[in-house]
Amino acid sequence: MAAFDTVIRNGTVATASDTFKADVAIRQGRIAAIGEAITDADEIVDASGLLVLPGGIDSHVHISQPSGPGIVMADDFESATRAAAFGGNTFVMPYCLQEKGQPLRAALKDYHALAEQACYVDHSFHLIIADPSDSVLGQELPALVADGYSSLKIFMTYQDLALSDYEILGVLQVARETGALVQIHAENYDAIRFLTDRLERAGKIAPYYHGKSRPIAVEREATHRAISLAELIDVPIVIVHVSNREAMEEIRRAQTRGLKIHGETCPQYLVLTEEDMQGLNMEGAKYVCSPPPRDKASQGACWEGLEQGVFSLFSSDHCPFRYDDEAGKLTPKGRTSFRWVPNGIPGVETRLPILFSEGVGKGRISLNQFVAFTATNHAKTYGLKGKGSIAIGYDADIALWDPNKTAKISQSGLHHGSDYTPYEGIEITGWPVATMLRGKFVVRDGQLVGAKGSGRYVTRGKPGAVA
Ligand code: URP
Ligand code: ZN
Ligand code: ZN
Repeated sequence: MAAFDTVIRNGTVATASDTFKADVAIRQGRIAAIGEAITDADEIVDASGLLVLPGGIDSHVHISQPSGPGIVMADDFESATRAAAFGGNTFVMPYCLQEKGQPLRAALKDYHALAEQACYVDHSFHLIIADPSDSVLGQELPALVADGYSSLKIFMTYQDLALSDYEILGVLQVARETGALVQIHAENYDAIRFLTDRLERAGKIAPYYHGKSRPIAVEREATHRAISLAELIDVPIVIVHVSNREAMEEIRRAQTRGLKIHGETCPQYLVLTEEDMQGLNMEGAKYVCSPPPRDKASQGACWEGLEQGVFSLFSSDHCPFRYDDEAGKLTPKGRTSFRWVPNGIPGVETRLPILFSEGVGKGRISLNQFVAFTATNHAKTYGLKGKGSIAIGYDADIALWDPNKTAKISQSGLHHGSDYTPYEGIEITGWPVATMLRGKFVVRDGQLVGAKGSGRYVTRGKPGAVA
């Protein structure tokens, strides 16, 4: 019997701290040895010329989430995790949305049922708290955190989701008592409502005005307020999907003052601008997401936030709708106002190639930072043990990358359920060429070879600080 099941030979391994030539040996789904000239294995995978990286962990994805009457998300768990695997990911953290009045365990039962037997990569859930009632805060949430649902998202905007400051403080207090980590969507709901009403009265209803309805001040103010509320409770938070300098500077200032504020940014804020929402007819709807893409200077600020470590997380905020579909971006109501265009864009498959090509390839970040932003920090921040690095004893969740492979992003080459990509035509150098989940290939030579249902639900521990 061979000593190992598989050995990945002659590749260049990168972790969040080091880059080195080594063979990686796998036994029973885990990394069992890292060394030189390991040959005693049932299968030898030649990784000459390839990078051996931890599989991507995308801690911000929306899958099969109810999105309003008549609107259907473009991905279920099967298609989203298939796309994730093709994009070099081995773990996703989708949201479990609590409907108002719904017990949290009932919501979780629904999402688990959707995910079970459907996934190609591993997953766990963040809870979305839409209704922080006394029983949710007093009993349900503490019990779920103890059961490993140790992170949640709350919103400062969106009808039916926006919490008052009083409610936010209540959630943060429970997070402090239980050790849960709270993600905050920081945009000022009343300001957006006011600006939206004013734009509509002026006949400014095209998708482009989505951006005008939520300018930077809306995000900056809410970011400042979220940080202040977290400071009052003395609890860490994550400000998700940061789009611009002013919000980034709020986070930096708080970090400089010693507050534990994690920052996340996303591909749309690095490579899209509000001009993309300018498309003819309804084409601009393809880019409608919140916060909206800004301008070139904001892109530069988001890069600065990554380069200088203000942001520790780079996620996709994959929230896919079809474009040419009345249940998607072309919902009939969307033609009457941008207000009704479903918010969100697909991106789980393109997150890693965009950051690799634009970041590592163009010398803005190191390969080790890339690994940290896309895998290691997600595992550490959200309490995911034994994943997110190439280390002995860790799950053999591995992406093999060809750093020189060049191709344009194109809808025809993607595997998600959406009928478009907002990143169409972007030239990428550096693509994942194989993805391995717990030692077994999910994607190899451009083919899906993993079994549907091989992705497992993983219970998380208490969120920890990014080292
Ligand atoms: O537009 C977006 N980002 N949709 C997804 C929901 C959210 O706020 O993350
Ligand atoms: Zn959000
Ligand atoms: Zn989101």
